[in-house]
Amino acid sequence: MSTGGRPRVLLMHPILDPGPAILAEAAEVLAYPPNRPLDEASIRQAAEGCVGIVSQLMDPIRETVLSTPGLKCVSNVAVGFDNVDVAAATSHKVMVTNTPGVLDDSTADFAFTLLMATARRIVEADSFTRSGRFRGWAIDMMLGQDIFGATLGIVGVGRIGRGVAHRAKGFNMRVLYYDPQPLPREAEEQLGATRVDLGRLIAESDFISIHVPLTQETHHLFSTQQFNQMKRNAVLVNTSRGPVVDEAALVEALKGRKLAGAGLDVYEREPAVHPGLTPMPNVVLAPHIASATVRTRSEMSAMAARNMATAVRGGRPPNLVNPEVKK
Ligand code: GLV
Repeated sequence: MSTGGRPRVLLMHPILDPGPAILAEAAEVLAYPPNRPLDEASIRQAAEGCVGIVSQLMDPIRETVLSTPGLKCVSNVAVGFDNVDVAAATSHKVMVTNTPGVLDDSTADFAFTLLMATARRIVEADSFTRSGRFRGWAIDMMLGQDIFGATLGIVGVGRIGRGVAHRAKGFNMRVLYYDPQPLPREAEEQLGATRVDLGRLIAESDFISIHVPLTQETHHLFSTQQFNQMKRNAVLVNTSRGPVVDEAALVEALKGRKLAGAGLDVYEREPAVHPGLTPMPNVVLAPHIASATVRTRSEMSAMAARNMATAVRGGRPPNLVNPEVKK
């Protein structure tokens, strides 16, 4: 569908340069009204007459939206696309694209940042020092967990999980991983990573870092049973998607000292954070910023815009997650 011959694309939220210029070359870009709620009916209304939607992870792009007449492509500015009902998109012949690859290093860096910050209590230490409570060195002050030489369990060993394993080598960590899909032998050797089942990974790891997509299978992959099996000194890091962890169960487990702490970038009901987590000194909480570096967010914007521009021009976008829609 078009106005004055130019196809229209709905941009749900601003993106970074050079994304806007790439989009503007291919289409007339309509900005989603900033104060309009992000529900399916409102998005559907705004998308009427558009061939494309450039969405982000907080936008529910499901049947109501995907059945918009003339819609050809949803370009999600994220590697994860659990906010898009891909099966419904496929049934309506709507292409769905994401932004894989460009955010791997930033996200792996951030998982390691959370791991270290939680293990060495850096946020707590910072506020302690700023507030003037540091009155002198003490042998028992702010004792944390050792990282060098510890055991790291990586759950999901895609590009980001492998990036975390790579970083762990520098800390001489013993790396275990759990993934239904084994790594090739050479990759295991290069990373020094051993594949184990989830139960063993949970029981043996001092640090557990989650790198799986959110699917029906991974929803609440970590809940009471898993927390009960963890080492008491263990730290859980989640930079994947909030619902992979049962947040209420995590709060109870932390209260019951089933594990030592958690470093979280994602939450079950974003932007809400479970109220039980916020008063806990042994958790480090970040606002879903694992990929938030200047370079990465700009590359994600450019990639999402290129995906959309290609689709608008009738081509096959490079990062199609439902390739069956466009042969
Ligand atoms: C961020 O969470 C992403 O999926 O890119």
